Amino acid sequence: MIKVAILGYGTVGSGVFEILKQNSELITGKAGQEVDIKYVLDLRDFPGDPCESVLVHDYNIILNDPEVEIVIEVMGGLKPAYDFVKAALEAGKSVCTSNKELVAKYGAELIAIAHKNNRNFLFEAAVGGGIPIIRPLNMHITADKIQEITGILNGTTNYILTKMDREGADFDSVLKQAQDLGYAERNPEADVEGFDAVRKIAILASLAYGKTVDYEEIYTEGITKISAEDFKYAKKMGRSIKLLAKCKNEEGEIVASVSPRLLAEDHPLFHVSDVVNGILVRGNMVGDLVFIGSGAGSLPTASAVVSDIVDCVRHLNVSTTVVWDGEKLQLEDFSQSKKAFFVRTSASKDAVEQAFGEVSYIDAGIAGEVGFVTAKMTETKFAECAEKLGNVISRIRVEA
Ligand code: HSE
Repeated sequence: MIKVAILGYGTVGSGVFEILKQNSELITGKAGQEVDIKYVLDLRDFPGDPCESVLVHDYNIILNDPEVEIVIEVMGGLKPAYDFVKAALEAGKSVCTSNKELVAKYGAELIAIAHKNNRNFLFEAAVGGGIPIIRPLNMHITADKIQEITGILNGTTNYILTKMDREGADFDSVLKQAQDLGYAERNPEADVEGFDAVRKIAILASLAYGKTVDYEEIYTEGITKISAEDFKYAKKMGRSIKLLAKCKNEEGEIVASVSPRLLAEDHPLFHVSDVVNGILVRGNMVGDLVFIGSGAGSLPTASAVVSDIVDCVRHLNVSTTVVWDGEKLQLEDFSQSKKAFFVRTSASKDAVEQAFGEVSYIDAGIAGEVGFVTAKMTETKFAECAEKLGNVISRIRVEA
């Protein structure tokens, strides 16, 4: 029997507890031995809850108990998660986590500590919730150069954009509805500004290329400026607007970004709607692989955490290979990457053509403005042309 401790009894922690109890027999079969929850750590009390008999408030009880072989960190945030996880690994325990902030910032370091101690640091749930994507990148797509990863990695923003698309509603009213329904946080900044998605794509890019991709170096733009009018134009183009997190090999250099993009109907992620996440991985041998499923929520995320626990039990005293070096990957300057842009302006068509040359106009029946799609150009060139034009109402990158 393997003893484990769960750090944090919130949305994910209570899901892990429930899955380990409800699917106990099945998990014993898959893992090869029974997984017993010896402790749950939380600052709060949970009177009457099934966790009550194993609830502790002091982390040292877990850290100093040699019987605990696996620590499940599902508290989120960096403090005290980083210190707790590092101490657990140094004490010879394996760690499974759903904490994308922790993994994005300290992934390489924690993997190295686990490796040194013949233990595991696993984080399947940190990206894409219940979707298996970390393990496929680590263990399955190992024969390919990864040409591109494009993901819808944030459920909250995908829910908001889907509603705006279907109902013609504006951003603020959909955000409010999402908050009232509990889909969006009261402080939605991390989601709507792209800060959540950028950590997730940094993790995927680090695994794809084997070096640390610093999320602070990735161009990040959220969805707060997307309007109901933008969706009218998108419809005219047969496209939708999605928040895409991307890393791409462009002529040998890796370009990464998080930004809203106009996506055509034949794109594999076009139909990924509501809170669902989707990830396209393009290998130079295997071609396109698409992963779609629940990117958030208690049980889907906990399901991925428990799959890591099973993996840890199967590999006690063996560090499974995760190639993610501490050396930083030099990203290509985003300003040099090329794409077409959709633009709305109150300027005349003459002014548009003087600034941008030949463009394709889109008529969405909105008075007092002109909508058009540019030729492919670098971000820098676009900024120059847009400044020359002036009067730009909005601009959205067009996904090829
Ligand atoms: N806030 C995140 C989302 C939760 O909306 O996708 C899962 O990481």
